[in-house]
Amino acid sequence: MDERSTTVFMVLLLCVGSATPAAANILDVCASCHVNATCEDKYDKSGKVCNCKYGFVGNGRTFCQDKDECQIGATKICGQHTTCHNTYGSYYCTCLTGYMASNNLPVFIPNDGTHCQDIDECKVAGLCGEGGHCRNLDGSFDCSCQLGYRVHNGTEPFHPHKDKASCQVVDCGHPKLHEDIVLVSATGTTFGSVASFECDEGFLWTSGNNASQCGADGLWRGLTVICDVIDCGSPPTFPHSHMQWNKRSRVGTEVLYQCNSGYHNIGKSNVFTCTAAGQWEGATLLCQAKCGPVPFLAHSEVVWHNRSVVIHRCVSGYHSWRGSNVSTCSSSGVWQTATLNCIEIKPPIHQLLVLNEKCLQWRAEKYEEATEMYKVIYIGSREYERAFLEKRKQFLSSKADWLEICLSLLPATNYSISILALSVGYTATITINTSLTEPAVPEIHYREYETPVPILRLHRSPSTLDTISFYQVFVLPIEGFMAFDCSSPVNGKPSGKSDSLQGHIVAQMRISRVGAEMHFTVGDGLHYGGFFNAPLEKGKNYYVILRAVSQWKKDLKSSCVLWAKVTGRSYVVMISSLCAAALIGLIVLAAFLGCTYTWFVKRR
Ligand SMILES: *[C@@H]1O[C@H](CO)[C@@H](O)[C@H](O)[C@H]1NC(C)=O
Ligand SMILES: *[C@@H]1O[C@H](CO)[C@@H](O)[C@H](O)[C@H]1NC(C)=O
Ligand SMILES: *[C@@H]1O[C@H](CO)[C@@H](O)[C@H](O)[C@H]1NC(C)=O
Ligand SMILES: *[C@@H]1O[C@H](CO)[C@@H](O)[C@H](O)[C@H]1NC(C)=O
Ligand SMILES: *[C@@H]1O[C@H](CO)[C@@H](O)[C@H](O)[C@H]1NC(C)=O
Repeated sequence: MDERSTTVFMVLLLCVGSATPAAANILDVCASCHVNATCEDKYDKSGKVCNCKYGFVGNGRTFCQDKDECQIGATKICGQHTTCHNTYGSYYCTCLTGYMASNNLPVFIPNDGTHCQDIDECKVAGLCGEGGHCRNLDGSFDCSCQLGYRVHNGTEPFHPHKDKASCQVVDCGHPKLHEDIVLVSATGTTFGSVASFECDEGFLWTSGNNASQCGADGLWRGLTVICDVIDCGSPPTFPHSHMQWNKRSRVGTEVLYQCNSGYHNIGKSNVFTCTAAGQWEGATLLCQAKCGPVPFLAHSEVVWHNRSVVIHRCVSGYHSWRGSNVSTCSSSGVWQTATLNCIEIKPPIHQLLVLNEKCLQWRAEKYEEATEMYKVIYIGSREYERAFLEKRKQFLSSKADWLEICLSLLPATNYSISILALSVGYTATITINTSLTEPAVPEIHYREYETPVPILRLHRSPSTLDTISFYQVFVLPIEGFMAFDCSSPVNGKPSGKSDSLQGHIVAQMRISRVGAEMHFTVGDGLHYGGFFNAPLEKGKNYYVILRAVSQWKKDLKSSCVLWAKVTGRSYVVMISSLCAAALIGLIVLAAFLGCTYTWFVKRR
């Protein structure tokens, strides 16, 4: 609608309006407002008017037309780095690529201060790839390569999205090797990698750094090591030996030594090696003259030997006595023989024997001129006397080689005797069974009696053989009597039957039952120990003989004594008295000697 037609249209409207009533006219103003207008009070309150809404221009009733705000330019209306977008009745702004609205929304209207600002693309890590360096620009960014990296497929600076360029690490390649060094380790071949070297075998580090590093320029740098060749020089010489040597003296070279003939190596090794330390090492050579076969020692054997040392030991049954048990080969090739003495082992007490059932004799085996103390313990026992136990000891101290000790041993006793050599703690044992001896004769007083029956007395002699001893009383008619045998059998004939020639036993009494003193009446008609003490015949003459007997098993020992002579009253003959005197003499003598005897009486 042009200006002119608009004016005509408005005049037409005014004419129509004047033809209508005034009150209705006021109310209709608001009803006639354009849809894109608002009805507002007049500024002087004199009525209502229609005003186009914000962003529209027009009369508010017939037309309200959109206003294009962007027309004045995006920079003016939206600000720097923006694009303006017009809308029906309004507009909005957006930021150019590489920028971002300060309210962080994709669109904005700048009336609240919102504006567009540069985006820092470098905040995103790895934008430029490995080894790349990001540079932020106003509304953009670019990339270059870090130290140790080079640009690939392009030039610096580059844009990773637009260009094909990228950064690649510098690679130094394999380290170059030298003649006298060897590579020990390397962390890699690229920039910053470290390679370590050491001197080759046979070379020795003298100075410099043994590590190399890959630089940004693609070169290995820093290796300054200096390795010198190792030389051991001439090997040493040893007496009595010769060597096999190839005249070299580098590391690993070996030299073999050999002893000259007549000598042998007493060391452990005969090879010298040139070591990394620059020295000849390994051999422990010492050539020694040979001593020949191992020396012999009497009664000994060789426990162990090598060519320079022999260890000896006494054979069994012998023991070592002083001296060293080692023979050594001297440097002059002669054995220094062991001084060991091998002595036959003998017990300290030997050849032990008993003399006369009384004395002990033995040989002492001693290796020193020392005094030995002997303890002799003897224990006696009797089979026939269970309660009997005799235990005694005796000491003997002597340096002698032959020893003798006499003991007071009782008869008819079994003794176990032990001899202890105290210093060596050795014991020898022997048994002695002492034999039966004649019993002691009781004390009596010889008397001659005339009938009737005499009472005889005796004093008992104490003896340790009481258990096996007894007394017997013999009555012998003097007439026709020829001999009396004191050793005759002891059991006789316990009937009382007279053996006119031997007489007969009238009583037998065990000595253990006899008190200190005893009275005995010949011919009292009683029984004694199973023997009949028969009354004497009147007018006959008798001898009364007392016999002490000790008997153990088959052993029998007896002593006799003439106790009395009984004379029948009617037969007193001088000659018989005489003979009796002679008889007494014989009996007493025999009893005194303590042997078996026989005596004779001749009667005429
Ligand atoms: C009023 O404005 C709106 C936009 O806000 C538009 O769509 C419409 O067509 C306008 N009405 C007239 C009658 O011009
Ligand atoms: C190299 O040198 C380092 C010190 O510089 C040392 O520790 C290392 O033992 C050396 N390596 C060799 C193989 O010599
Ligand atoms: C023999 O043995 C002795 C003792 O073990 C030792 O010292 C010596 O070196 C050895 N000799 C030889 C030639 O083996
Ligand atoms: C001693 O011992 C022997 C043998 O055992 C035995 O026959 C004998 O009767 C014993 N003698 C004594 C007195 O015990
Ligand atoms: C002595 O008697 C004992 C028993 O008591 C016996 O073993 C030993 O052989 C006897 N000795 C002699 C020398 O008869």
